[in-house]
Amino acid sequence: MLSYQHAFHAGNHADLLKHLVLTRVLTYLTVKPAPLLYVDTHSGSGGYRLDSKEALKLQEYRQGIGVLWGRDDIPEQLEPLLSLVTKFNRGATELNFYPGSPWLARQLLRPVDRLELCELHPTDYARLRKQFGGDSKVRCHYEDGYKHSLSLLPPIEKRGLVLIDPSYEEKKEYQQVVDHLLALHKRFATGIYALWYPVVEQDRIERLQRQLVRSGIRRIDVYELYRDREQRQVGMNGSGMIVINPPWQLREEITTALEYLAPLVGEAGRGGWRVQELVGE
Ligand SMILES: C[S@@+](CC[C@H](N)C(=O)[O-])C[C@H]1O[C@@H](n2cnc3c(N)ncnc32)[C@H](O)[C@@H]1O
Repeated sequence: MLSYQHAFHAGNHADLLKHLVLTRVLTYLTVKPAPLLYVDTHSGSGGYRLDSKEALKLQEYRQGIGVLWGRDDIPEQLEPLLSLVTKFNRGATELNFYPGSPWLARQLLRPVDRLELCELHPTDYARLRKQFGGDSKVRCHYEDGYKHSLSLLPPIEKRGLVLIDPSYEEKKEYQQVVDHLLALHKRFATGIYALWYPVVEQDRIERLQRQLVRSGIRRIDVYELYRDREQRQVGMNGSGMIVINPPWQLREEITTALEYLAPLVGEAGRGGWRVQELVGE
């Protein structure tokens, strides 16, 4: 039984990092006219109301998209994300909604591209289906994203991005994501993979990264954003993204964006970030 619901967390600092990476990667991938496949293994519902009782409970968006809203000094690396969030809010000056990864991806993809979206929570799945009803480029699957995504690779397009964004409700997921990445990479070695993880227990993250380093997979980057760079924050202090086969400018771009974001999302100006090439060519 799944208890995690992204509606409680939508638009928080973790979504900012994840969706920054997502929008940058898709911006690069769509420069070339050749078609591509986008796979979202853990799609969520596709969009969230920030005035829902779930979002209002913790108001996490205030330390996320809320700190960017209305600013006029946004670096260009964050522009695509911000303009899409504005579009999702139908151009209103007030921030009432936050989009999910499938919607963001759909906006950046073109008629030649395809989206395969997996979601296992019945309510979120129903919303996802409703959002994309009638869109011939999108297929929604009420399936386990780990199992189902394997059947989608390698794509006929031979180009693509897989976003793996689990809720880590169970500790075994830290191992599951590594096994899954290795299995996907075996099927489609040239694909781009973006894995999100929470910065809560440092040991688990180090183990996860060590396993990837030892796996033999080349070209792996890591990007992290923290609310407290000295890690004194209780609970989720921040989050990270591991990107396999990143587009070549991505590391530099994410550095610029995180330099800007960290002081804003940080607790009393103590925010921090990390950008590292975990494995080279
Ligand atoms: C962090 S949320 C996804 C947020 C979304 N990717 C976004 O950025 O907007 C994780 C989602 O995974 C779903 N989920 C959990 N286990 C799953 C599984 N094995 N397969 C597919 N979806 C799963 C949860 O119901 C939840 O909606």
